[in-house]
Order: sequence, then structure tokens, then C-alpha cells
Amino acid sequence: MVQLTLPKNSKVKKGKHHPAPAGAKRVRTFKVYRYDPESGENPRWDSYDVDLDACGPMVLDALIAIKNTMDSTLAFRRSCREGVCGSCAMNIGGRNTLACTKGIEEVDGGALVVSPLPSMPVIKDLVPDLTNFFAQYQSVEPYLQTDTPEPEKEWAQSPEERTKLDGLYECILCACCTTSCPSYWWNGDRYLGPAALLQAYRWIADTRDEHTGDRLDALEDPFRLYRCHTILNCAQVCPKGLNPAQAIGEIKKLLVERQV
Ligand code: SF4
Ligand code: SF4
Ligand code: FES
Repeated sequence: MVQLTLPKNSKVKKGKHHPAPAGAKRVRTFKVYRYDPESGENPRWDSYDVDLDACGPMVLDALIAIKNTMDSTLAFRRSCREGVCGSCAMNIGGRNTLACTKGIEEVDGGALVVSPLPSMPVIKDLVPDLTNFFAQYQSVEPYLQTDTPEPEKEWAQSPEERTKLDGLYECILCACCTTSCPSYWWNGDRYLGPAALLQAYRWIADTRDEHTGDRLDALEDPFRLYRCHTILNCAQVCPKGLNPAQAIGEIKKLLVERQV
């Protein structure tokens, strides 16, 4: 049997414990992944006993409370705090989601485990390096492309045509789906992943776009598109309720249809 040996510095060690402030009555422990590549030290799990009566109800509220009152060295991304910017995406209780819309009470069990989105390099703590993710998004040319002369006003679209974009335009590029996709874990350098493919289909489905053929040509590739094996992790974790697997299926269908 093949034996895999991980490098020594990949082992996540037990880290520091930060007790709750004196007098705290409602306490929940947060077990948080900590890693600073520049330190040369192994990653570690730090635990924080958070006073739930002194912070808001969401996981992001607890992380902000930790940073403000217990440990200012903790790094994570956030901006809008209302599920719109996608920057607070992380793995909470074993599932990729947005920290700002995930209620602390929604996560069962004892210690609430928080780690960065899987399969991406870690810049620090809960901050993943999304360079490849956004390069792949850029590669699908996510903007309107036309050949006919510009109309005097706007590019017209009927309400029925506009509905074709429902379930696509709402994507906030949080990367929860792509980083939960097993095919992407193994082939993330060549497979575009569910988010970029959903975005690719968003422009294929747009009746105003006139480069559909070029877009399909660019996707017709055993790795860029066909690494999707319909495992459906992507649809299960999308915090906006979107279904990238379905969008990928629509692209595959169009590729078949244009051959007949
Ligand atoms: S359905 Fe496709 S894109 Fe979605 S998780 Fe599975 S392999 Fe990945
Ligand atoms: S499809 Fe959903 S999970 Fe994937 S990037 Fe868009 S919003 Fe995030
Ligand atoms: S902070 Fe913007 S989505 Fe969570």
C-alpha cells in the first residue's frame, strides 16, 4: 500500500488558550486555525473562550470580538457584514460559508472550529490567497462582448431574456463553492472550478452578448470544463443558494447541441 508522509511543517499543532473574561456567563469556545508563513513555525489551533453576551450573534461578530478584546494578531477578511462582498468566506464547523451570515447558534457541537477556505495557500490565519481563483475568473472574460455598433441608448433586453440571468448574476465570488469542489482540489491549476464556470455561463446566457461561440470554444477542454463530475458540493455550500453544477451542465449541453 502507498504510504504518504506529510512534511513536518504541515502538522497543525496545539496552540494557545485564551480564557473568557472574568464574570462571563454564556461562553463558547472558538478553535481557530492560526498560521503565519513568515514565522517559520507550524500552523496551530488557538482556542478562545468568547463571552457571547458581549458580542453579536454571528460567527464574524465573535471573530471581531476576539480580535478587539483577546488577540489583536488574528487575521481575517471582512467588509460588508451583510453577505454581499464575499470577503469573509471561511470554513466554519467543517463547511465553507460566510462568517457574517452564519449564526453562532447555527453551528452545533462544542468548540466551534474555524479554518481558512480549503485547498488555497494561506497568506495568514484565515486569509487565503485567491490569486488563482481571480485569475481563472478573469480568464472567462466576464464582461459584455459585442460586434454590432453601440446602440444610442442601452443594449435592450426583454424581461423574459433578463430572467435567464437569475441564479447567475447573484454570485458574489466568495469562492465557497470552488474551494469545496474535490475536482478543484486535485486539478485547481487547470480546472476552472464552479465559480468561474458559473460566471462563464452568466455571459453565455446573456442574450445581449455576441461572443457565445468564442466563449464555448474557450471552455471545450478536458480540464477547464470537463473535470466537473457532478459531485454537487458546490451547490450545497453556496451561501447565496446558487447552483454552479447546473450552470456547468448547461454549458455541457450547449457544447453537445452545437455538434448536432
Ligand atoms: S458539481 Fe462539479 S463543480 Fe460542483 S463540486 Fe462537483 S465537481 Fe465541483
Ligand atoms: S456560486 Fe455561490 S459559492 Fe460560488 S462564488 Fe458564487 S456566491 Fe460564492
Ligand atoms: S463581510 Fe461581506 S460577505 Fe461577509
